Amino acid sequence: MATLQYKLAKKDSASAARAGVITTDHGQILTPIFMPVGTVGSVKAVNQQQLEHIVKAQIILGNTYHLYLRPGTNILEKAGGLHQFNGWHHPILTDSGGYQVFSLAGTRKIKEEGVLFQSHIDGSRHLFSPEKVMDIQRSIGADIIMAFDECPPAGCEYSYALKSMELTHRWLDRCITRLAETPDKYGYTQNLFPIVQGSTYKDLRTASAEYIASKGAAGNAIGGLSVGEPEEEMYRFTDLCCSILPEDKPRYLMGVGTPWNILEGISLGVDMFDCVMPTRNGRNGMLFTTNGVINIKNKKWEADFSAIDDGFSCETSNYYSKAYLRHLFVAKELLAGQLASLHNLAFYLWLVGQAREHILAGDFTSWKEQMIPRLKTRL
Ligand code: GUN
Repeated sequence: MATLQYKLAKKDSASAARAGVITTDHGQILTPIFMPVGTVGSVKAVNQQQLEHIVKAQIILGNTYHLYLRPGTNILEKAGGLHQFNGWHHPILTDSGGYQVFSLAGTRKIKEEGVLFQSHIDGSRHLFSPEKVMDIQRSIGADIIMAFDECPPAGCEYSYALKSMELTHRWLDRCITRLAETPDKYGYTQNLFPIVQGSTYKDLRTASAEYIASKGAAGNAIGGLSVGEPEEEMYRFTDLCCSILPEDKPRYLMGVGTPWNILEGISLGVDMFDCVMPTRNGRNGMLFTTNGVINIKNKKWEADFSAIDDGFSCETSNYYSKAYLRHLFVAKELLAGQLASLHNLAFYLWLVGQAREHILAGDFTSWKEQMIPRLKTRL
């Protein structure tokens, strides 16, 4: 139907933060936003009704790599796309596999054509090329689809980072060509977001951001960060990329991060974030709260009957006590991972919602400065 639109609602005067609205064929997204990660078409331990009503998610992620291996594009096409298959009828974004093949697959070989890799499930061999990844993302049917890129390892040599960035740019052009040659499958528009790479080299990041900006895409992503570099470096390169990427399109910082990383990212001009941290760390007993970080397995919570977090309104965080959640973890109950994931995700969505409110109210920067030390406190 219609290409994704971004409407700027308000710019912060003391930082590059902005509040906006993204419109897709599956509805609107108020930015800045955090996107829960639903790798295989499911946000681990959380169902779609909970995502909508408790977490208040507006958009979720899926992964091309995982969905291609299981259940496969044949089943997804028969279902009528991922929205029909998993019952999430709001916006979906799929990552391209350009990160997962490097982090998950067994042996892999990068060539001009694409990446040859072995499945982490059964060792079977596959080739991901830009064309193949566009075709798979057409079959999955996400509203936002990511370009096929190479995310080089942290601290790689300049010569490697340069070659890798140039390959990512050539792959982007092939993605754009393939997408233009293939129609939308399910009657709504799929929007390609290209990805800035360039590792931690200023001239490469600048060149990559300029190249990506020149494509006039509906939105743009910053990749290759939060891969082990110091936080200050991540902020410096995010700032550099945001200063080059167009103002009138959403900016997405991939794979970031902690609550404080997200607030700093927002202040640098980022609109969209995703990270496995609230769910993965949650399942390990790490809770992010309005007062700081908790390891709920710790004995100190054994008889603490206060709410998990009553610093914001959430029917999970306000209802169950720390002592009860600790008990569930100690007893290895399945509910432990679910409640921790629900709390962490609801907290992340509350946090970005608050950031938006403070941008609109004109006091984002002072609010952020007083929030960050609180969020980082170890309780
Ligand atoms: N997720 C986190 N970082 C990246 C990246 O650099 N590329 C892709 N495709 N996904 C990511």
